[in-house]
Amino acid sequence: MNKLISLLIMVCIGLSCYAQDIALPSPNKTGGKPLMDALNDRRTTREFSDKELDVQTLSDLLWAAYGFNRENMRVVPSANNKQEFTVYVVLKTGVYVYDAQENLLILKVSGDWREKAGKQDFVATAPLNLVYVADLKITSKETAGVDVGFIAQNVYLYCASVGLGTVVRGWFDGDEIKTAFGLDANQTPILTQTVGYKK
Ligand SMILES: Cc1cc2nc3c(=O)[nH]c(=O)nc-3n(C[C@H](O)[C@H](O)[C@H](O)COP(=O)(O)O)c2cc1C
Repeated sequence: MNKLISLLIMVCIGLSCYAQDIALPSPNKTGGKPLMDALNDRRTTREFSDKELDVQTLSDLLWAAYGFNRENMRVVPSANNKQEFTVYVVLKTGVYVYDAQENLLILKVSGDWREKAGKQDFVATAPLNLVYVADLKITSKETAGVDVGFIAQNVYLYCASVGLGTVVRGWFDGDEIKTAFGLDANQTPILTQTVGYKK
């Protein structure tokens, strides 16, 4: 019995150590297809392989989504420059917040929570889901609903430019996400997006 308890403790410690913050390499800000080609290739994909994205791709993609391209200014516009979004990054290993200043994924919840990120089957197996969470203390849901379109479209264009698949998704349970990710009352998921290699 004692051995069993020790084993369980070791497994728990092992699991809690497994996921940690992820330091991203600097994003590549050049390359990819020219804009007109990327626009021509932009489309929705709903079939993904389970192949992981490497950290460079993750860094480039997140920078395209919500990075800074001037001091304290983002690659996407936002009404009154409120910058009300936090990008939650849902990987097999855990749920992270993208810190664009530090180029870091900050671990919020360890474990595989991908199935909470949406209602369609591929969500649970695709390597990456993004959850765009607005702070409704600083802007309205309507405004956030406009601002989020720029983020999602940047991800679409990035994916088109490097040959990844993506789908933006409004079909998710916001309350389920709030509970699973430990969001506070004002933090509201506005839109989600799945990314991965096309099957
Ligand atoms: C706000 C919004 C919400 C969407 N929600 C979903 C969704 O929950 N699931 C899904 O499979 N596709 C979703 N889509 C993708 C659309 O179905 C898709 O963009 C549309 O069929 C046009 O296809 P295209 O993106 O290839 O041009 C959504 C698109 C938008 C703009």
